[in-house]
Amino acid sequence: MSWHASVLTLYPDMFPGPLGHSLAGRALSQDIWSLEAVQIRDFAADKHRSVDDTPAGGGAGMVMRVDVLAACVDDVLARRPGLPLLAMTPRGAPLTQAMVRDLAAGQGVSILCGRFEGMDERLFEARPILPVSIGDFVLSGGETAALVLLDACIRLLPGVMGATTSGEEESFESGLLEYPHYTRPQMWEGRTIPEVLRSGDHAKIAAWRKQRAETDTRSRRPDLMERHGDATRQPPSGAR
Ligand code: ADE
Repeated sequence: MSWHASVLTLYPDMFPGPLGHSLAGRALSQDIWSLEAVQIRDFAADKHRSVDDTPAGGGAGMVMRVDVLAACVDDVLARRPGLPLLAMTPRGAPLTQAMVRDLAAGQGVSILCGRFEGMDERLFEARPILPVSIGDFVLSGGETAALVLLDACIRLLPGVMGATTSGEEESFESGLLEYPHYTRPQMWEGRTIPEVLRSGDHAKIAAWRKQRAETDTRSRRPDLMERHGDATRQPPSGAR
């Protein structure tokens, strides 16, 4: 059985989209993973097939109806028992590489994509759904977020990437950003590749890469450095 993704969406034509190309696309045609896009609107019960309504309490936009969402969710939970069900929403818990690794190691995932101002909150009280966000910004819908999550999972499936991805040196696997990369030409616009990378001294290269991973993480992602434990940081002035 291959790794399976069920996506619950008002825009099934957005899938596989970019995941039909390159590594993920090849893996899809090789049946390393499979995809099903479920049209949420097919679960609307009224003759107008309406999926949204005005927000209780007033305000802008529309809210996805709980009865329609629950009917769609129940169908997928029944047909795909055992797959975790996620919902893409800016109100969700932040997506991490640890979550991606867990999902990729399992049987697959079902993903509900929000649209409009959001989904009726009672859905999350009544069904086992994990709300997930891909970052502190607002997309026009959960579909592009679902594509991001699936991309991150699929590249970890056995047989998708070459020998290169044990992934151990990648960004976030160590808790830090990855070190920078260079390739020929050796001289470009007056800039050279750091000499140590041409030395052939693997211990020295490893030490340089570790150093750069730490300095780049400290300057770009102080939040990550804090969690990792910044051994080289200056103690606060009060402690000196
Ligand atoms: N839908 C809209 N914005 C989103 C975000 N940042 N993450 C996940 N789903 C979203």
